[in-house]
Parts: sequence; structure tokens; C-alpha cells
Amino acid sequence: MIVLVGGEKGGTGKTTLATNLAAMRAGAGGDVLLVDTDRQGSASFWGAVRDEEDGLAPVPCVQVFGKGVSRQVTDLAGRYSDVVVDAGGRDSVELRSAMVVADRLFVPVQASQFDVWTLEQVDGLVEQVQAINPSLRASVVFNRASTHPRVREAEEAEALVAEFEHLDLAGVVVRDRIAYRRAASEGRGVAEVPEPDAKAVSEMEQWYGAVFGGA
Ligand SMILES: Nc1ncnc2c1ncn2[C@@H]1O[C@H](COP(=O)(O)OP(=O)(O)OP(=O)(O)O)[C@@H](O)[C@H]1O
Ligand SMILES: [Mg+2]
Repeated sequence: MIVLVGGEKGGTGKTTLATNLAAMRAGAGGDVLLVDTDRQGSASFWGAVRDEEDGLAPVPCVQVFGKGVSRQVTDLAGRYSDVVVDAGGRDSVELRSAMVVADRLFVPVQASQFDVWTLEQVDGLVEQVQAINPSLRASVVFNRASTHPRVREAEEAEALVAEFEHLDLAGVVVRDRIAYRRAASEGRGVAEVPEPDAKAVSEMEQWYGAVFGGA
């Protein structure tokens, strides 16, 4: 399966979700490749840090840029069971090119900064790409939602997503937790650090389940 984590906004958690997903898939014995199409290279950096650590399931990682992303990702998907693509910061050639060949697009959205205009752009882009890749399914994942029980922003944002014809809800709400930043800096998934944050681990299990289900 080709899983793309992308969107039209920077800093929403694409790399966090892509790297955790790849780490969990590898940890479960999966044959997964992480593809970094972002010239900032944060997923590749995570992969390089991970390589230096002992005792972690290896996550091979490659960088692919430009219009050739479709062709190269298709080729790589023939060599790995699963390919997780971390798309660049914003609307980019790489994002569009990867969408053409992806099975699933997941769009992280910060519930606290819910931006209808940006999501409209993504919805329109999905519509265009579905003309070429009709099986593409695009789903919104909420990230960095408040951990405060009285703040209901994720629930409110869910209602807004229902307005978009080409986007659905992944049913995943990831909250703002230091555990995500800590694990990332060590090239790990949140479950792979000493004394894992059980809530973050549970959120990432929910995320993994939304992507791979029982597979
Ligand atoms: N749920 C979370 N809780 C706390 N921090 C988070 C969470 N998700 C992401 N972050 C932090 O927010 C910052 C941006 O996240 P990340 O790099 O995953 O976003 P991105 O969408 O890949 O950004 P870019 O568009 O620059 O590629 C990082 O420092 C990351 O550690
Ligand atoms: Mg990133």
C-alpha cells in the first residue's frame, strides 16, 4: 500500500505521523519504506538518527524529489509491501505527483488552527487527482489537539470537515504531547522510548489502525 501524508500547510505533523507509522509498521515485522519528498529532509534526518540507535526495527528511508515522484514511488511500491510518503511543507510538485499513485492520502490538520481555506485547496486538489487516480481516498487526521478535556476543538472541527466532498475523517485525534517531540529527536516512534507516554502510544495505535486496519 502507498500511504501519503501530506497537505497544503506546513508544520501540521506530517513528518511526525509518517515516521511513527513507518516505525510501527517496521516494529510489527512489516516490509516498509519511508520516502521523504520534502527538501527540508526531516524524515530522512529522523531515519539517519534511527540508524545510529541500537535495538530498533530498521526503517529504510529514501529521498525523492520533483516530478519523478510518481514513477519512483510506483517502482518502490513494487519492492516493498508498504511505502509511507512524507510530503513536503505545502502544495508542491511532490505532493501532486505522489497523490497520483497513492492509495491513501492523510492530511494532518491542527484543530486549534482549523483553516477552511487550506482544506478547500486540498479538497479541490483531491478532486482533480481523482480524475487520474480514482481509487485515491483522502482523510483528515486531527493533530496537536488540546489535552484539556473542556476544549472541544477537534469535535467542532469534525463537523466542518463533513462539508468537504472529497475528504473524510480518519477518526484519529492526536493531542499535543511532548512525547512526540522527544521521540522524533531520537529517531524513534513514541512507543520506542524508555518510559513511553501511554496516551501518545494509544493515539499512534489508533493512527496505525486507521491506515492498516487489521492488516
Ligand atoms: N501531536 C504533537 N504534539 C506535540 N508536538 C507535535 C505534535 N505533532 C507535531 N509536533 C511537533 O510540531 C513540529 C512540526 O511537526 P512536523 O515536523 O511533524 O510537521 P510537518 O507537517 O512535517 O512540518 P513541515 O511542513 O515543516 O514538513 C515538530 O517540532 C513536531 O515535533
Ligand atoms: Mg515535515
